[in-house]
Order: sequence, then structure tokens, then C-alpha cells
Amino acid sequence: MELQGKRIVLGVTGGIAAYKAAELVRLLGKQGAEVQVAMTEGATHFVTPTTYQALSGRPVFTDQWDARMPNAMAHIDLSRQADCIVVAPASADFLARAAHGLADDLLTTMVLARDCPLLVAPAMNRQMWENPATQRNVAQLAADGVTILGPASGEQACGEVGAGRMLEPEEILEAVTAFFVPKVLAGRKVLMTAGPTFEAIDPVRGITNLSSGRMGYAVARAARQAGAAVTLVSGPVGFDAPQGVDRVNVRSALDMHGEVMARAAAADIFIGVAAVADYRVANAAEHKLKKDDGGLPQIALIENPDILADVAALPNGPFCVGFAAESRNLEAYAQAKRRKKKIPLIAGNLIQDGFGGDDNRLVLFDDRGTHPLAPAPKSVLARQLVEHIAQLITY
Ligand code: PMT
Repeated sequence: MELQGKRIVLGVTGGIAAYKAAELVRLLGKQGAEVQVAMTEGATHFVTPTTYQALSGRPVFTDQWDARMPNAMAHIDLSRQADCIVVAPASADFLARAAHGLADDLLTTMVLARDCPLLVAPAMNRQMWENPATQRNVAQLAADGVTILGPASGEQACGEVGAGRMLEPEEILEAVTAFFVPKVLAGRKVLMTAGPTFEAIDPVRGITNLSSGRMGYAVARAARQAGAAVTLVSGPVGFDAPQGVDRVNVRSALDMHGEVMARAAAADIFIGVAAVADYRVANAAEHKLKKDDGGLPQIALIENPDILADVAALPNGPFCVGFAAESRNLEAYAQAKRRKKKIPLIAGNLIQDGFGGDDNRLVLFDDRGTHPLAPAPKSVLARQLVEHIAQLITY
């Protein structure tokens, strides 16, 4: 429920992407937002107000003179109650009218009268988007402090291909969610690792561990939402990179080491969440091992480089944050790792809490002491960790 308590006015203008706005209403509501829909007359030709009313649980406003507002000031009342106004889809016509401060229907009047942020998700034919008039209008809106979401490129309803598609509802939801997150890492470059590594024994077998990547991906998302440019060097996991995060895929600890060290000097912050194999197979077989090769396979191990320790040893290197998953003596073992790797902050978790699921329990150890965080979803803990890091680097 990342938007719990947020009041969002969703403006829908005339365009085929209006049908996707119905899904956006549902997604915003699922995250706890109270959604009030206001439609232009054009939008009602694509989707009826009843659809949005059913999904938002609120009457939909289409008319500035709506008799349901006792003071006949729907444009003021609706925008005063909002934490932000999101217009999706935002047609070329709406962008033009908003850029010029016109107030000739409920939505544009509300936008002009607002005292809250405005986010717009343009949606139109590619020629309309590329038209210098639209580009001028969008530039004007951006200069006025309006957040422009997209558009995306791809196949359009008219059959043409190009820029002008509205972002997907999930992408708009993520952008709206991120919009409310304080930008405590604005301008910072964060380099991270996440997930397990895979150390090959032969072409089909290997040594790995039970890290799902959830904790690391949650931290990457939280850092991105906090305004950082995030590069995530990830072992094999089963889901997509968080929106706006640059992902580099690796398999083995050696690959992870190489990709991290190539980028570490340019990073402001390094966060090692990956469960990196301490050892790799020295005698990995070129061909699949066969049972009838004779005898038990002899697997020789060799130590992997310690990525976190190597980054921490860089002269003028990034601020380093480690993780420690322990089955017991969390404080003693985590603190020992912090000292050994010479890092200012380590997040400790117990193996039974940390690996796999959506929730975790973290204890942060730094020079100032021990900071236990309440058990919570990894997304919440990731945000708290990011805030803690931001405090330490600006301290
Ligand atoms: O992915 P999930 O299922 O969500 O699980 C999350 C997690 C439990 C894997 C995560 O929260 C976590 O604790 N990650 C660190 C796992 C661990 O115990 O690492 P370690 O003790 O082997 O290493 C300590 C630190 O050094 C870690 O930051 C690790 O990334 C880093 N390290 C370790 C070895 C190595 N060769 N290079 C490293 O950089």
C-alpha cells in the first residue's frame, strides 16, 4: 500500500489510451490511493464515466457546472483535496491548452487553479507528438514544473510506429509512487549487486544459493525512487529490473567482480546485497560430467575475490554498504564483517528472515551504533536503508 492516504485526481482526456486509464485507477486504488476521476468531454467518447466510477468507487466529474458541487466550484474543490493531479492519457489538445493556461473545461480549469503538483502522460499519434507545436507545449509545461511521464515508443492504435504511446499503467503507477518519495539521493550514482552467483561445475551444473534477488532489487528500486542513478549488477534472478534501473546481468562471482570493478570508481555509493559464492570450481569440466566417467567427480574449489572488500579498498572509492546473512550471533558476525571489509555500514539479517520471501528483518550496524529496523516488507526496509545511507553520507 505504497500510496496509502494519498488523494489523486486522475484526469482522463480523449484518446484510445483512455481504456488503459481504467486499469490505472484500479492499480492506484490497490496501493491505497483515493482516486477522483475527472474526464474531458472527449474522453467520454472512448470510455463511459460509469467504468471509472465503478473502479474508483466515486462519482466521476465531467462538467465544470456539475450540480453535485453545492458552490459550483468543482475545479477548486477537487484540486484542493488532491496531493497531485495525474492526467493520463494527456492528449495533444489538452497539453496545448494546459501549456497556454486555457480554462475552457473542468479539467483545464482545475489544472490552472491547482495548488498541487501535476503529472501528465502524453498519448497521441507519432506525428502529433513530433509536431513542433506539441514539443513547444511540452517544453513549456516542463519549464512550468509539470512532470512529463513518457511517452513510450512502439506500435500505435492507428497502425503507425513511433513515439507517442502512453506509458503502461504499471509504469505510470511506479512514476506516481516515486514522485512522492523524498529525493534524498538526488544526483548520486549508486552501484549495487543483488541475487545469487552461479559457479559452474560443468556446462549444466553449478554451485549457487537461495538468494532470490528480492532484497537487492528492493534496494535498487528505493535508491532509484530516492533520485539516484542506479546500476544493478545482478546474478541470475527471475524478474525484471526495477523501472529506471540499469541492470548488468552476470552469472559467476568473477563476472560480478569484473563488472563492479569496471564501474566502482565512478560510483558515489556501493551496496553489496548479492549472496556471492566465496569459492568457485577450479576444475570446471568443459563437457557434461557423466556417471560412467569413472569414480566420483573431484571438485576442487578456489577462493573468489571479495567484491565488497575490493571496492572498499579503492582510493577515494564510493561509500560502501554491505549485507550479512547469518544463522546466529548476528551482531558479532556482522560487525566482524564490517571491520574486516573496512566498510562504514552493514545490514545484518538472519538467514531464516532474509532469504527468499517478501519480508525481512534488518539490523543496521555503523560507527554510531546498532539500529534495529522493525520486521517489514523488503520494499519498506529498502527505503529505510536508503534513508539511513543518505543521512550517513550527508552527516
Ligand atoms: O535475495 P533475497 O532472497 O531477497 O535474500 C537477501 C539476502 C539474504 C541474500 C541479503 O539480504 C543478504 O544478506 N545478502 C548478503 C549475503 C551474505 O551473507 O553475504 P556474505 O556474508 O557472504 O558477504 C558479506 C558481504 O560481502 C555482502 O555484502 C556480500 O555481497 C559481499 N561479498 C561477499 C563475498 C564476495 N566474494 N564478495 C562480496 O562482495
